[in-house]
Amino acid sequence: MAELDVELPPEVPQAHLVLIDPSEFRPEHRDVQLFRNYIDSPLQERVERTYRAMHTGQTVQFVQDRLAHWGKFDHARLSMLQVIKALDNLVDEADPDTDLPNSMHAFQTAERIRERHPDKEWLILTGLIHDTGKILRLYGEEMWATVGDTYPVGCAPRNSIVFGKSSFSGNPDLSHPVYSTELGMYSRHCGLDALTMSWGHDEYLYRVLQHNGHKLPEAALSIIRYHSFYPWHSGGDYRDFHNPATDDEKLKWVQAFSQFDLYSKSEELPDVQALLPYYSGLIDKYLPSVLSW
Ligand SMILES: [Fe+2]
Ligand SMILES: [Fe+2]
Repeated sequence: MAELDVELPPEVPQAHLVLIDPSEFRPEHRDVQLFRNYIDSPLQERVERTYRAMHTGQTVQFVQDRLAHWGKFDHARLSMLQVIKALDNLVDEADPDTDLPNSMHAFQTAERIRERHPDKEWLILTGLIHDTGKILRLYGEEMWATVGDTYPVGCAPRNSIVFGKSSFSGNPDLSHPVYSTELGMYSRHCGLDALTMSWGHDEYLYRVLQHNGHKLPEAALSIIRYHSFYPWHSGGDYRDFHNPATDDEKLKWVQAFSQFDLYSKSEELPDVQALLPYYSGLIDKYLPSVLSW
């Protein structure tokens, strides 16, 4: 397997414990073999603990604090390929199954899309970069505020959230007079973009791109911002917030993308070094050469 040969500046953190993204091992569209290993192992307990910490800690105030902290974009100046390479520094010491470099997931996702949609360069590039927001973790963010399914804060949790409503029992927002209600701080059909999503790598990359500038279409931004919003795109919840004029289109793209965003060990691994010229070309076409993170 030819690994990605991209040079990193010495100040990029070398390693940090991270959990594999539980969002990407869902049974409905994941590598069944791998998923089985995952749920039968002690990892299941860790996943449950991660989600409990997320469901307890992700409050409206927490997300606002994170937005202010990460919204300074003062952690690093790195190219997209450097960030993809840096994600290989994220290792999960407790998980024997994650011997696949993180960068491989980026290229596998992109190559799957390229096979089906060779003409959609923007979608292929979206596949390559969609998880680069996980660099959050390398710069000290909590695991439960980096990976996992996302959902809006500021309103009551809906049924399809993983581990259910009981997992939120320690969350102070659930005794808040507004945030604890079904619509919470939102109005019916306010549109997805009016929601304050739980903090994680989706929202972060969306903001990084907005901040640095890009030439990607709106659909790419929707995929990046909502691909972990499983209770919506897979669970069918939160549709009362839909603004049909804008969100039906978002849903279509995020669902289409979801079938390419999977971990698989059964598939042949791409020779990323050989693919580099093609992907460097795509990056140059749509993104600044260096971005503030
Ligand atoms: Fe992701
Ligand atoms: Fe992914």
